[in-house]
Amino acid sequence: MTKNILILPGDGIGPEIVAEARKVLARANELYDLQLAFSEDLLGGSAIDAHGVPLADATLEQARRSDAILMGAVGGPKWDNLERAIRPERGLLKLRSELDLFANLRPAILYPQLAAASTLKPEVVAGLDILIVRELTGGIYFGEPRGIRTLENGEREGFNTYRYAEHEIERIGRNAFEMARQRQGRLCSVDKANVLEATILWREVMDRLAPEYPDVTLSHMYVDNAAMQLVRAPKQFDVVVTGNMFGDILSDAAAMLTGSIGMLPSASLDKNRRGLYEPCHGSAPDIAGQGIANPLATILSGSMMLRYSLDMAAAADRIEQAVSAVLDRGLRTGDIFTDGCRRVSTAEMGDAVAAALDSVA
Ligand code: NAI
Ligand code: MG
Repeated sequence: MTKNILILPGDGIGPEIVAEARKVLARANELYDLQLAFSEDLLGGSAIDAHGVPLADATLEQARRSDAILMGAVGGPKWDNLERAIRPERGLLKLRSELDLFANLRPAILYPQLAAASTLKPEVVAGLDILIVRELTGGIYFGEPRGIRTLENGEREGFNTYRYAEHEIERIGRNAFEMARQRQGRLCSVDKANVLEATILWREVMDRLAPEYPDVTLSHMYVDNAAMQLVRAPKQFDVVVTGNMFGDILSDAAAMLTGSIGMLPSASLDKNRRGLYEPCHGSAPDIAGQGIANPLATILSGSMMLRYSLDMAAAADRIEQAVSAVLDRGLRTGDIFTDGCRRVSTAEMGDAVAAALDSVA
């Protein structure tokens, strides 16, 4: 059966890196007869220029009909002065909320070939392979009431609400247990249950789910300790599940353990594991149009797409092996370049990964 992939290149380096991911997916499609069908549309600044809005209704409809979405990045100085409601990132936020993409997966994997790029000691990060599962559509970023109000004494007060309903905790929890089951079977739930009631409930729900996943070992950790442990001994973690705000912060920290933002993919999934896949970085206007951006985060996002939304784990494995093979050969874009390696362009890196697919078993 045909799988429809919607490609949203976006702005800045978005079109450059997405072209390479598409090249690699197209080669995998040919080699393994995956039956992928691609279509492309506008998102962000490019959509504002064409339609006056960052996400056109027709694009949203197309997204709803697709089996998965691959995105580059949105935004750039050209659109920075627009009012908030029609800025490029509103298009992305709307896409995430309209499609109910509540589970954000961010792997932090250190490729051994790039060990020198990490700020941590090699023995602390060698072999690092963590998956952070962050709740993306609830918690304090969305909780009502919120605002800035003036008190009776005339002083102003800002306030937000940390709120999670049981069903929201349960669905992200199940997602994380499933992920852990496919990996090393260890799940660490991160909360602040010693202080925040909302996270006492979070912990309760995780404990309630645990017996349904006897092959997964569940542990709990307070968020402040988790931040410390991520830097002290990150390899103790397999899968980490946490709420929106804690996940935002911890996933950025975990990502940076691996060195370059140009290597980090992500997925945002709904309850049926339909998803939006994108690199963790932005549209990098400072290097856009120069053909030097690292396309590997986007290529690896494509591999996550095959794995999580399309049940094509074998093809996903091969793309990851191809990336590794290309790094073994010393090919590097500028952001991961070190002495003795060969500096390549965005397109040369994409070509090399696509070609390496022919030789990985
Ligand atoms: P950024 O991630 O675009 O860039 C940060 C630094 O990393 C820059 O020096 C850039 O050149 C470099 N970089 C990023 N990706 C790279 C790659 N693939 N290869 C080599 N170098 C890379 O973040 P920044 O500068 O804060 O934001 C730029 C624009 O991107 C803004 O308009 C921002 O709103 C937008 N943005 C969009 C995101 C998205 O679409 N999901 C996420 C983050 C930012
Ligand atoms: Mg962030």
